[in-house]
Amino acid sequence: MKRKQITAILLGAGNRGAEAYASYALQNPVELKFVAVAEPRKERREEFQKKHEIEPEYAVESWEDILKLPKFADFILICTQDHMHMEPMIKAMELGYDILVEKPISPKKEDLILLKEKSAQYPGMLSICHVLRYSPFFRKIKELVDSGIIGEMVNIQHMESIGFWHMAHSFVRGNWRNSKESSPIILAKTCHDFDILLWLTGKKCLRVSSFGSLRLFTPQMAPQGATKRCTDGCPHRNDCAFYAPRFYMEHPKAIVDGYRKVVSIDPTTEGLLEALKTGPYGRCVYACDNDVADHQVVNMEMEDGLTISFTVSAFTNECERIITIHGTKGEIRGRMEEDSIEVIDFLTGDKTHYQLNTPKVGHSGSDSMMMKELITLIAQGKQQENISNAVQAIDSHLIAFAAEESRLNNGAVVEL
Ligand SMILES: NC(=O)c1ccc[n+]([C@@H]2O[C@H](COP(=O)([O-])OP(=O)(O)OC[C@H]3O[C@@H](n4cnc5c(N)ncnc54)[C@H](O)[C@@H]3O)[C@@H](O)[C@H]2O)c1
Repeated sequence: MKRKQITAILLGAGNRGAEAYASYALQNPVELKFVAVAEPRKERREEFQKKHEIEPEYAVESWEDILKLPKFADFILICTQDHMHMEPMIKAMELGYDILVEKPISPKKEDLILLKEKSAQYPGMLSICHVLRYSPFFRKIKELVDSGIIGEMVNIQHMESIGFWHMAHSFVRGNWRNSKESSPIILAKTCHDFDILLWLTGKKCLRVSSFGSLRLFTPQMAPQGATKRCTDGCPHRNDCAFYAPRFYMEHPKAIVDGYRKVVSIDPTTEGLLEALKTGPYGRCVYACDNDVADHQVVNMEMEDGLTISFTVSAFTNECERIITIHGTKGEIRGRMEEDSIEVIDFLTGDKTHYQLNTPKVGHSGSDSMMMKELITLIAQGKQQENISNAVQAIDSHLIAFAAEESRLNNGAVVEL
């Protein structure tokens, strides 16, 4: 049987929209075709329009220009910045689109209530980019815990290692540096982790407490004589791990993972150096308008006495997730970056090791896996079977809001 080609619209042709998700259409043109894009940055809009062969009148500057029209495609992807998801999402729901919205749903708690209300009358697919649910790593762990191999879960230690270079790029110099402009790090970065913990355990979170701060990336911590930009002849170029030209020119992650494209649409050495001289990514990490925490711990009490301790930290070499699950009959230890999961049986002492072999880009292949699954569900009319429903994701967001409230109140316990 011939497969239906899904038509899609992209709102926000930035790093996530254009690179992480829309590239799926270029690789799988039989399954997916972008027919419209809204993007205010001219070069990015034109690049997207050309690559996806979109009619000029459907390459517009802002999402309102698309959503004022009657529905003209199957699927809409909302990949604008954190505070710009809600309005287009509600409008797209009213028009009857199947929707994929970037996380977080919104930095405002009250928007979550509005979404719950609106979703009651909405029959379509409202999926959120909680891409980790599609990762072979967490799927294997879910399969293991559901099999009962470690008995009942009693305690979980989960760690989100940001990586010092990723912290500098995104949360000191970049889009998520300032909680007033975007969201606190515990929402922007780690709503993924709360979602995955809720999904793995199938339990509700009852209360949280949290500590953390911005320890390093402040003007007071600048080494003597540091210049405002790395490219201003900074005397610390050889002794500072955050020297921007070194990261963007030499770090393997910067080369393979799309960081350079965020800095400059011109990826040549000249283009990058020019962007570092003038743009936000060349700023000294001690001279940015950042305020989000660089390390934070969250204690969570779940139903049935299950406890979780969660840490997010900038001060790691790798950007990865590490999880240990303590069960009544055994233990699971997993390291996402190493694709490694080990299960230990208390009774027999047997250790079973699973070595996965996932791609080293796009959240270990989860980004394109999510696209594949969603497109297939839409083509088959099985939208309700999507596993990353935005309304269900509200719970993970509420944990993040509660954790931030606790952190700002000396770690006071916040009931959910
Ligand atoms: N799921 C994940 O794992 C993951 C990872 C990183 C970021 N994100 C989230 O994805 C979202 C986008 O992040 P990004 O890195 O792509 O940011 P980005 O800044 O690269 O992309 C956002 C794009 O939206 C465009 N835009 C601004 N106003 C617009 C308007 N009125 N209409 C249409 N487009 C408009 C911007 O010009 C920009 O190109 C954010 O909410 C972010 O938190 C999710």
